[in-house]
Amino acid sequence: MSISTKQTLSQTSFLENYLKVRALTNELCEPLQPEDFVVQPVVDVSPPKWHLAHTTWFFENFILKPNMADYRVFDKDYHFLFNSYYETEGDRWIRSERGALSRPWVKEIMSYRAYVDEHMKQYLSDEEISKEILDVLTIGLHHEQQHQELLVYDVKHILGINPLFPAYKSFRGEINNTNLEEKFLEVEEGVYTIGYQGNDFSFDNEKGVHKVFLHRYRIQDRLITNGEFMEFVEAGGYKDFSHWLMEGFEWVKKENIRAPFYWLKHEGVWKHYTLAGLEEINPEAPVSHVSFYEADAFAKWKGKRLPTEFEWEVACKMHEPEVPEAANFVDERNFRPMPRQGINTQFYGDVWEWTNSAYLAYPFYEKPEGALGEYNGKFMINTMVLKGGSYATSRNHIRPTYRNFFHPHLRWQFTGIRLAENF
Ligand code: AVJ
Ligand code: FE
Repeated sequence: MSISTKQTLSQTSFLENYLKVRALTNELCEPLQPEDFVVQPVVDVSPPKWHLAHTTWFFENFILKPNMADYRVFDKDYHFLFNSYYETEGDRWIRSERGALSRPWVKEIMSYRAYVDEHMKQYLSDEEISKEILDVLTIGLHHEQQHQELLVYDVKHILGINPLFPAYKSFRGEINNTNLEEKFLEVEEGVYTIGYQGNDFSFDNEKGVHKVFLHRYRIQDRLITNGEFMEFVEAGGYKDFSHWLMEGFEWVKKENIRAPFYWLKHEGVWKHYTLAGLEEINPEAPVSHVSFYEADAFAKWKGKRLPTEFEWEVACKMHEPEVPEAANFVDERNFRPMPRQGINTQFYGDVWEWTNSAYLAYPFYEKPEGALGEYNGKFMINTMVLKGGSYATSRNHIRPTYRNFFHPHLRWQFTGIRLAENF
């Protein structure tokens, strides 16, 4: 690739980042067969081919169409099919029926990706791009990284409800958790600053820097393991209303919930579906696939509680570097929770952690102008904040201030538990 005269150095690195992020999406799809790309087992899951097209539409619709001279859209019907939820962008195909569409084919969507990539390459090489547009491009990259993560959740769901329990990939290495002790880190009471204050990218929902007062608290230095959660299951935790929020207990009864998602007891042995197929549950690995309700009930059964998002953020900033180093992210290609060897304090990676904080606008939150104002702000009701990232998160996507959010009953995502307590 030659650098043209108008192209700034930072634009070259934008293009490099763009190509890297786009390549990971394709890599994550390599183990899939054509039929895997189309299925939508539940409304929360999107067919893999929909992710491939929607992320591409994002760049086409928000970068190329409004900014690149003479750009012609790949297919005028795609706007309706691959707009996810932007009212600003007009009508769209209903989310619950994404899996009903056999067309466009996977091959056509792959051509769509290639077409948009070619034009993005051209656009970033030939024209001088304003800071405003580069900011949207950065959102597009983080958007695609979010969809890479959703893609892995969705692939696991699609394969995991299949009675053949097909493997996505075989695992490498052994799980050896060197920190099985119950240890809590102490944080003193005080006024703490919450929210993103750096100069790199952050989402709108982390801005609105503000202060909170925290009473002193203790927060666990690691995630809860399968073995610890199994004790709750075996002790009849799911049957005893006294640990549960009413909404949670109603959900347990209605959905007949008896264990984390993907767990099943086979001839007296607990197994679970993993991305390598059905496996015996390793008691040392962090527990995954619990809803907020289960995380909260487990904490209460233990006589503890979940941390708030503020307690989590403050403790993470004290004990982890601002830019995450070694941790189990998608960069490792482990595709399962694998605690760091010999490092006892861990806030990043493996599985997202439910907090006891509702996902609400921070004081001073400002909704961005235009369609991208719909990106985060309109979801600030009835969801809970999760922190820390998972084995499907990219290392350069996560921060201490990062706020993920999901409805409290959902558990197909990679979600786990860290405890806190007063002292
Ligand atoms: C932050 C994961 C809840 O799933 O809608 C994707 C990510 N935002 N496209 C979601 C997202 C826009 C978002 N979560
Ligand atoms: Fe999206």
